[in-house]
Amino acid sequence: MISTFAEYKKSIDLFLEKEFLNDSPDTLYSPIRYILASSGKRIRPCLVLMACHLYQEEWQEAIHAAACVEVFHNFTLLHDDIMDEASLRRGKEAVHIAYGIPSAILSGDAMLIYAFKYLEVYGAESFKKLSSLFSSVSIAICAGQQEDMDFENSETVTISDYIRMIENKTSVLLGAAIQMGGIIGGCTEEDENHLYEFGKNIGIAFQIQDDILDVFGDQDKVGKIVAGDIINNKKTYLYLKALDLLDEKGKARLKSLYASTPEAVEKKIEEVRSIFRSCAAEAYAQELKEAYYILGVSHLEALNLEGDKKQPLRDLAEFLIKRDH
Ligand code: IPE
Ligand code: IPE
Ligand code: MG
Ligand code: MG
Ligand code: MG
Repeated sequence: MISTFAEYKKSIDLFLEKEFLNDSPDTLYSPIRYILASSGKRIRPCLVLMACHLYQEEWQEAIHAAACVEVFHNFTLLHDDIMDEASLRRGKEAVHIAYGIPSAILSGDAMLIYAFKYLEVYGAESFKKLSSLFSSVSIAICAGQQEDMDFENSETVTISDYIRMIENKTSVLLGAAIQMGGIIGGCTEEDENHLYEFGKNIGIAFQIQDDILDVFGDQDKVGKIVAGDIINNKKTYLYLKALDLLDEKGKARLKSLYASTPEAVEKKIEEVRSIFRSCAAEAYAQELKEAYYILGVSHLEALNLEGDKKQPLRDLAEFLIKRDH
């Protein structure tokens, strides 16, 4: 039987609600309960459950792997918000604002360890595959996250550097989430590869959409401070493509705006937005996003399964690139 996104989400929400309720000390666990109770979209754990459901009816068997990727993802958010100096997350104060930086660091570390612990419920063979996949991906995420930070201070970032960086910081986790669901469901190695490539490519499209929303999104819907990437001089596709498209004068102006961190941040944001608009950088970003989406979905379609079964994943992939939050 086919389930809806809402059903998968409900099951992970219920699972996480019961976690860490009685753990102490409160100073370590309150930040964990706080972030896990905030309104995340739960995309990654739903991907795990949906992928498992492609291969077996008992998709609940993948709930611990789903918890693994969601708790891990939330750990990355705690540390990412410190690194990006971002004060708002899911419409609420970021953890380091609500509880302080030391707590956000250590509670994040604990979440990372719990994420791996969730995999211990699986039998020896699955456990080995899942934990080895998940540790490789975790290391790649650190590499991507560090490059994202390094690029703030670099003037030589290329579009292929940017794609490599977002592939690592964001999309490999979506790839791994879907592959983990397939492993638990008992898929073939060939399907594992298609599942990973599906997730990786829609993950790249997903991060391009995140970068577009950062500049042009509605703060109330996105739940994060908009234009944080402009304030931090992040070398997103919008910025790199704009440099390609602009004339020498425009290029020099954009570069000089990204070489500064002015007090009057609103003026910088407005000028950058208007430069992006003047060269239609967003339209190019939409095009690139679409190309990765199409490539991703081709791997979903390559799975040797009845077409109907894939519908929830098709719908979710489409939501990921059209979302406004
Ligand atoms: C935010 O991910 C971090 C990125 C990789 C862009 P999500 O947009 O999935 O965040 P939540 O979990 O729904 O808040
Ligand atoms: C997400 O990148 C990277 C990780 C969560 C590791 P961003 O820095 O763009 O994510 P948001 O926009 O703060 O959610
Ligand atoms: Mg961030
Ligand atoms: Mg970041
Ligand atoms: Mg972002």
